[in-house]
Amino acid sequence: MDLDFLNRLDFHIIKLSLSNIILMKKCLLFICLPFFSLSVAAQTKEPLQLNKTNIKQVVKALTLDEKVKLVVGMGMHIPGASAGLLPPNDPEDDKITPKVPGTSGRTHAIDRLGIPSLTLSDGPAGIHFMDLTAAKPKYATAIPIGTLLASTWDTIMTKKAGEILGREAKDYGIDIVLTPAFNIQRNPLGGRNFEYYSEDPFLSGTIAAAVTNGIQKYGIGVSVKHFAANNTETNRMKLNTIVSERALREIYLKGFEIAVKKSNPWTLMTSYNLINGTYTSESKNLLTDILRKEWGFKGLVMSDWFAGQNAATSLKAGNDLQMPGRPDQVQTIINAVKNGSLAMSDLDESVERFLNLVVKTGTFNNVPYSNKPDLKGNAAVSRTVASEGMVLLKNDHALPLSKSSTVALFGNASYDIIAGGTGSGDVVKKYTVSLDEGLVNSGFKLQQNNKSAYENYIKSEKAKKPAPSFMDVFNPFVIKEMEVKNEIITASAANSDVAIITIGRISGESKDRKVADDFNLTDAEKQTLKTLSESFHAKNKKVIVVINAGGVIETASWNQWADAILMAWQPGMEGGNAIADILSGKVNPSGKLTTSFPVSYIDVPSSKNFPGKQLPLKEGEILDPVMPTYPAEITYDDDIYVGYRHFNTNNIKTAYEFGFGLSYTQFEYSDIKLSSSEFKDKITATITIKNTGKTAGKEVVQLYLNAPSVKLKKPSEELKGFAKTKLLQAGESQTISFTLTPGELASYDSNISSWIAEAGNYTIQIGASSLNIKKTKQFHLAKDLVVK
Ligand code: BGC
Repeated sequence: MDLDFLNRLDFHIIKLSLSNIILMKKCLLFICLPFFSLSVAAQTKEPLQLNKTNIKQVVKALTLDEKVKLVVGMGMHIPGASAGLLPPNDPEDDKITPKVPGTSGRTHAIDRLGIPSLTLSDGPAGIHFMDLTAAKPKYATAIPIGTLLASTWDTIMTKKAGEILGREAKDYGIDIVLTPAFNIQRNPLGGRNFEYYSEDPFLSGTIAAAVTNGIQKYGIGVSVKHFAANNTETNRMKLNTIVSERALREIYLKGFEIAVKKSNPWTLMTSYNLINGTYTSESKNLLTDILRKEWGFKGLVMSDWFAGQNAATSLKAGNDLQMPGRPDQVQTIINAVKNGSLAMSDLDESVERFLNLVVKTGTFNNVPYSNKPDLKGNAAVSRTVASEGMVLLKNDHALPLSKSSTVALFGNASYDIIAGGTGSGDVVKKYTVSLDEGLVNSGFKLQQNNKSAYENYIKSEKAKKPAPSFMDVFNPFVIKEMEVKNEIITASAANSDVAIITIGRISGESKDRKVADDFNLTDAEKQTLKTLSESFHAKNKKVIVVINAGGVIETASWNQWADAILMAWQPGMEGGNAIADILSGKVNPSGKLTTSFPVSYIDVPSSKNFPGKQLPLKEGEILDPVMPTYPAEITYDDDIYVGYRHFNTNNIKTAYEFGFGLSYTQFEYSDIKLSSSEFKDKITATITIKNTGKTAGKEVVQLYLNAPSVKLKKPSEELKGFAKTKLLQAGESQTISFTLTPGELASYDSNISSWIAEAGNYTIQIGASSLNIKKTKQFHLAKDLVVK
């Protein structure tokens, strides 16, 4: 109640007696209060405060300076990062204590209008904190990397992984998690492939939608990234990708289209690179015409960190928020509005989108947070997801291991697991479970001499690690593989039952991988593997290779030396337990490859010019000290023929094809049926899968479509549906159904800028991999169909 108002009222009734006045005040306070409250609010203007229904009014009330602050973030604040490494922030912003220290970014608050600062945090494999000064680090669950998640081919499982991120973001008071990342794995050397899902856009988009649904379920927004064609890390900030419109639509944008339509992501992050001469963050065609007008994206678009060239051009194109934000960007936008090169209405639109995001967040809605995530419970889910995405590549009666086995365990990574990749996709975790621990936890015995030799070596090498620095994000500390003498191997073959060797690889942001000693095995690794094979096979004992890597490695030259090969990827902090779950048979492997394993690197079509051509610096152009990137150019000559679209269409042999993965049981495919032999609005295919082996297991069922090629050339088949069965007991069956709509039949015709399904015969191929097709069925489309 406004006491001033009561006093003014007193003045008007001054002639009344004191007792009357007291009586009147009582009446006002206790009886007439509601009536007077209404009229008071009308007469004394309440300060405007943002709510869900007054966004437009708030936009009107903002000054130009305030509007611009909202569309430029508050800079990067990494406690302990050496001065000068990052562009300077506005000193006033640095004085404001962040709600959650050590996250990747935050936005400006405008207190007078009730607009809070939002907190944004990476990333794909768990909540990522960067605080080099924290006495007690904040831990998050390190879930498996993106490629492993996708290798589950299971949208329920990947949604569960997303839920871990959603829950922990909520527990830490974070508003937006900067994930899912799902650029196409165009080339095996891509440094960030580990964060990404697949070489196939349908699979990538479908998994991204599942992860998004898992995170957003908790009232936390995602940022689907990096839009688009961020398939190379070398010179990533200035790389011009030259790509045909058809390849862009069918391969590099398709996954984003699916994710936008299926999961309504709150935000999207543009990429660093240029596409056909325009920075993606400054491309109106990409952000306004395609993303918003064609696909109906309703959320906010933010830039990748320090991406792009001109903040005003970026805003005008539809990139609403500049992240992490620099003071010079604020000035650029203010100047552009003042000199008329940026319309106020464009700025207002971005501010409105920003406020629409704000009102959905936990911070705005004062959602309480505990800072105490259920790390134990989340780790258990992470372990389950990890074992579901590992891919058994070979098994000559070697797995599962018999329980009482004594294992001779080799390879640094067996004792020091690589849980994930480096950069913003890394996670500060409380512990990691290595394979040696996982095997012991599962009841196996370890050959002790090996164990102590590796442990001592790793300990002494780790002691050489320099003090933690922000640059670790880009330059991970890697320990050289320990050399193993032949005598040790021979002795191990005599006093153990089986050999397991782990091949470890790490990669990360801002750097691509190399062919020698990374994609290919080192000479020392090959020699150890060969000697292991000879020594153990001489004693009739098996050799098992575990690959602990974020991406594809060469396998064709050495796979004959191994009796079993398990692609364990980078399986997160519970990795050792999850690998042991597969090796022991507690979990029957059911992951399948989401990317082709070529026989040799040169078989990959993009190998011809990956990672692009470096161009000279322009006059006056200087190299960034953190990410020294030159101007560069790469042409996507492979066009739509990426991965299996190339290998299968051109009959090029792979080591392991797209979709491949073994199980400890067998499945039979039968009874394929189509709802009709003529395509109208949609068609449904059903198939029955039976577990014909002795062990319970799950099968990933894949539907590929072979489409008529009249005007447009097409790959021999493209993935258009997939499903994972439930855990089928021996002898049990399940019928799976897939529905195809016109969108799935269509290819992009650049001549008419439309998606078109060509008339003719289509073949549905359902199988266990892109080459292991079990059943096919044809249907017919009478007339060309232009699909919106
Ligand atoms: C990465 C993004 C990440 C951002 C914030 C950038 O370097 O490309 O994926 O979300 O940093 O950490």
